[in-house]
Amino acid sequence: MILAKQNHPPTVGGSVGGGKYFVNGGNILSGDIAVQGSKNCLTPILAASIMVSGETVLTNTPDIGDLFSELLILNSIGVSYKKMSGVIFSDAKNAESVPLTSELCDKMRSSILFLAPLLARTGKCDIAKPGGCKIGDRPIDFHLDVIRKMGATVKDEYDLIKCRADKRLHGAIIQFPKISVGATETAICAAVTASGTTKILGAACEPEIMGLAKFLNKCGAKIRGAGTNYIVIEGVKELNPTNFEIIPDRIATVTYLAAAAATRGEIYIRNADSNALYAILPFFEAAGCHLSVSEKGRTIYLNAKNRALKSIGQVTTSPYPGFATDAQPLLMALTASVNGTSIFEDGIFENRFMLVPELAKMGAKIY
Ligand code: UD1
Repeated sequence: MILAKQNHPPTVGGSVGGGKYFVNGGNILSGDIAVQGSKNCLTPILAASIMVSGETVLTNTPDIGDLFSELLILNSIGVSYKKMSGVIFSDAKNAESVPLTSELCDKMRSSILFLAPLLARTGKCDIAKPGGCKIGDRPIDFHLDVIRKMGATVKDEYDLIKCRADKRLHGAIIQFPKISVGATETAICAAVTASGTTKILGAACEPEIMGLAKFLNKCGAKIRGAGTNYIVIEGVKELNPTNFEIIPDRIATVTYLAAAAATRGEIYIRNADSNALYAILPFFEAAGCHLSVSEKGRTIYLNAKNRALKSIGQVTTSPYPGFATDAQPLLMALTASVNGTSIFEDGIFENRFMLVPELAKMGAKIY
């Protein structure tokens, strides 16, 4: 959708994953596009596949930088994999615990999602603190508290956190002080093959959590309540091979909608899940876009052609089913192109407004 014409002076230059995008503005973005599979669903599932005795087949997988970082980690611990367009075959039968150094972990926040599966599978995980986008402090204390409660020891040795479980992890009551997507995923992964029952209170409800639970249940896990704040898991001895289709990426969907709206275009997005976006889609209508959703919610149509768009009022982010923090910058960029004042409040990450000075460079008035 974005045209890279490197022979023209770029209106915006950015660096992502070591590459650069040159964006020449002034084009209306219109078209028909199938949305990719969700990064935030793929990453925990690929990490959890370490616990499966045999081959995992994942379909609808996106070709993104985080996937390549994750495949490097899998490779280092002896997981064999084959990647074809949109499909990943991985086989963890020879997985072993090797230190996951900062070289492997600092490209992606989700590297911490390897902790529980590797510990559950091998009883040992040495892992560097995760890297990832700098949207806030992003501590990992909840993840470490979960595995401690389930019987592991944790030693923070400067460059590596060394975690050990002499015997099988055991079930526990986990009560999160704050809703955390990643820590809920860690608790689910640690619990599925632990002995006894684990109860997670204050769990995150994101669709990606439901995706992880569906995948693990397909492998023979016993997880109930995923998608609510209270999840109960009965540990099983082993997980069996399966195949699973990654759910649509809701943030990529919002990205395309915002790009079409900001340039006053018209777009059909196929393979989407509009139900996962019900806190966000009304803001496009509030801006004055025409929006419609197909009967099963898989196709979203947005038309902003020749429309004078306006303020969307106030956006306040919160955990699912609230307005996703990852969608906030996209809507802010859209509102920089409309008449009137919109207000944004982000209660999840303290550093989520890093786009403000960049938009201001392009003339947006943001206070
Ligand atoms: C996930 C998503 C990310 C999204 C975020 C919030 C993935 C790979 N990433 O990130 O795109 O922006 O959810 O929806 O799924 N916290 C702690 N201690 C911890 C863990 C988290 O204090 O151990 C705090 C965080 O600082 C933050 C809040 O909990 O304020 C929520 O973070 P969390 O849901 O864990 O974010 P991620 O799972 O890292």
